[in-house]
Amino acid sequence: MNTVARAVTGFRDWVDARFPLTQLWNDHLARYYAPKNFNFWYFFGSLALFVLVIQIVTGIWLTMNYKPAADSAFASVEYIMRDVEWGWWFRYMHSTGASAFFIVVYLHMYRALLYGSYKEPRELLWIIGMFIYLTLMGEAFFGYLLPWGQMSYWGAQVIISLFGALPWIGDDLALLIRGDFVVSDVTLNRFFSFHVIALPLLLCGLVWAHLLALHEVGSNNPDGVEIKERKGADGVPLDGIPFHPYYTVKDIVGVVVFLIIFCAVVFFAPEMGGYFLEHANFVPADPLKTPEHIAPVWYFTPFYAILRAVPNQLGGVIAMGAATLMFFLLPWLDRSAVKSIRYRGWKFKLALALFTVAFLTLGWLGMQPPTPLYTVIARVGSVVYFLFFLAMPYYTANDSDRPVPDRVRWP
Ligand code: HEM
Repeated sequence: MNTVARAVTGFRDWVDARFPLTQLWNDHLARYYAPKNFNFWYFFGSLALFVLVIQIVTGIWLTMNYKPAADSAFASVEYIMRDVEWGWWFRYMHSTGASAFFIVVYLHMYRALLYGSYKEPRELLWIIGMFIYLTLMGEAFFGYLLPWGQMSYWGAQVIISLFGALPWIGDDLALLIRGDFVVSDVTLNRFFSFHVIALPLLLCGLVWAHLLALHEVGSNNPDGVEIKERKGADGVPLDGIPFHPYYTVKDIVGVVVFLIIFCAVVFFAPEMGGYFLEHANFVPADPLKTPEHIAPVWYFTPFYAILRAVPNQLGGVIAMGAATLMFFLLPWLDRSAVKSIRYRGWKFKLALALFTVAFLTLGWLGMQPPTPLYTVIARVGSVVYFLFFLAMPYYTANDSDRPVPDRVRWP
């Protein structure tokens, strides 16, 4: 061993005697055995982690020049875009990152639907994931007010007034959220503090818990076979491979491909035709002028379409809340003994296909101004959406599932 290697090893041993560094490395990377058959769908967990880091880092830099006050917020964002060195880059990274976060997280969740990753023993991992999702929605909602554009202002106005529709507590709750009788400087200040510190802290804590839960039960895989049930004499799962180096390398490939697409958007189409940065938000907030068409950013639109599909406001709010919360129940609604879609019967496959079409259609409808025809389609879509969950105990209990193999299929 040369002098440098000896010094490095010595330093590592010194740290290990005081902090479980090598143990952590082994437990969570070098000797964490993951199924050997991960596919495309398993990129999105590490990508979500990557986007979280992008958002935190670019957010810190934006905060250096952003002013959370009603009379200067809009101008401070313009200042960042025009005068701050690389300010435009940090802002576009952050705004594109917000949409990328939802794309990645939706694909991550969809993988769980495909492979039954929410089923026993991963119920808690799934529940923690759902709390991450709700926190992410809150984070995006609070952040959207900060540029203080027309859509920031009126979007917040509409969403907060929905809370006002709740019986008994509605008005007081809306007042509590706004801190004022209208969306104002006070609202902006509290949304800023939630956006830059409260929810990011919560998000990091939840992600940590998510990964702990994952490593406790171990990853599922595209075959839905529990690899821990078949171990070799050395105690290592027969179908497992060490996370590092195999999946660290695989995930780096995912990050590179992701960055190519992400950078193409950041540098060439940061507004993404109004989907990532809405056109109305380039106009400063004006409490006296309501924009002609108020729509949330694309990642909220399926739920917004469900809200509008119900004629009664309170009913709409309840339906919208229920639509989000339904996912929490999945581990108990799904009665099939089979996890992966590869071995499920036609009923689940059909239900998932219909749900996917309904979710995407609702997402599109939520961006459009309502017409009588669109309202009818949104109602049909909402019924399909809810039936996917509510009828699940029936169609999964007697589906034509196929036998699941003992070992994962490879390749
Ligand atoms: C900031 C957001 C999130 C991060 C950083 C994150 C991170 C991860 C990572 C690194 C994995 C392991 C790799 C993989 O399976 O892709 C994982 C697995 C998983 N995540 Fe997440 N996740 C996030 C959000 C969510 C959400 C919103 C849900 C569901 C509501 C969820 C549910 C799951 C499940 C069920 C697994 C296990 C999947 C399997 O083994 O098949 N995650 N997550």
